[in-house]
Amino acid sequence: MSAPLSELPTPSLLVDLDRLERNIAAMAAAFAGSGIALRPHVKTSKCWEVARRQLDAGAIGFTCSTPAEVAWLQDHGVGDLLWAHAPVGPRKVEFAVTAARRGGLTVALDSVEAGAPLSEAAVVAGLTVPFLLEVDTGHARLGVDPDRAVATASALAALPGLRLRGVMTHEGHISQEAVRDDLERAGREAGALLVSVAEALRAAGHEAPVVSVGSTPGATSAPFASGVTEARPGTYVYFDANQTRLGSCQLSDCALTVLARVLSVQRDGRAITDAGVKAMSSDTIATAGSVGIACDVDVVPLEGVTFVDGNEEHGFLLDAGPTRLKVGDLVRLVPNHACGTTNMWSHVTVVRGGVAVDDWPIQARH
Ligand SMILES: Cc1ncc(COP(=O)(O)O)c(C=O)c1O
Repeated sequence: MSAPLSELPTPSLLVDLDRLERNIAAMAAAFAGSGIALRPHVKTSKCWEVARRQLDAGAIGFTCSTPAEVAWLQDHGVGDLLWAHAPVGPRKVEFAVTAARRGGLTVALDSVEAGAPLSEAAVVAGLTVPFLLEVDTGHARLGVDPDRAVATASALAALPGLRLRGVMTHEGHISQEAVRDDLERAGREAGALLVSVAEALRAAGHEAPVVSVGSTPGATSAPFASGVTEARPGTYVYFDANQTRLGSCQLSDCALTVLARVLSVQRDGRAITDAGVKAMSSDTIATAGSVGIACDVDVVPLEGVTFVDGNEEHGFLLDAGPTRLKVGDLVRLVPNHACGTTNMWSHVTVVRGGVAVDDWPIQARH
């Protein structure tokens, strides 16, 4: 395949191959020789061509959110997976047992209520399912409070069919810090807190060899707290507008864009494109009031143009002055959150040197 961007359908999801490979190599280099294992979260790409490159660069396996991601990677023969999502409910328990039987699966648990049904199912299946105790280091999502970690881990470890391997956290809360230095400090604190929980578990007689942290904004801080054994960044393969704002990357590192065309400029100061929230996702966590960063075809930001809103199939670009964009112009839109955008698409077009060179399927979306 070799096609100029002007010949692609719009909207199209594009991945810049050079940037992707650079991001994968840079993260791998950051951990090479550090003694910290790299277990990227696969939700960002859901694409085997990306995952394969991460493994080739030294990733030990992957972090998954959904059963579909776990099953898909197991079908590809990936033998070391952390399903970092509570296996609660009969279908997820059944899935966890099936996946554990295939080998190499570790699950995350934060309560006896979550672990007891899995314990029963594992016993019936004649299996022992390894688990990490999920600890809340500040994100206030899943995870036991640190001061209840020993009691919860002990109660879970006492259940038959389960085996404690260590602790994990997702330090997503550090993104709330306005200044990069504070974010780095918050990342180190989250890592250190998780290490202290692992040490408390060991003092209580448990083996807890795995201490796993995970996020892209925290990838330069949390894993480097002494005693952390594993890092699970995900978004770094593509980066996005959100990570640019957080200082995790430059805009020139962002590998994922949506190619769109201007459909109409009927209203002054406004250009309507064919990429709305069904192309971008409605994830606005980065810059409130913005659906993404509006750029030209070379991914250079369009000065003064903001991507202020989206209907399903329409994007609203606001120009600070009179509209400079014309009907038929191509734009490239950097999404706020690459992971949400990926899940809107069934394939991604691969671009190198401004030319479309390949097309990769996006899988395990449901
Ligand atoms: C459990 C877990 N680990 C790792 C990650 C990766 O974090 P990021 O998307 O910042 O790279 C996430 C992201 O949501 C997560 O939920």
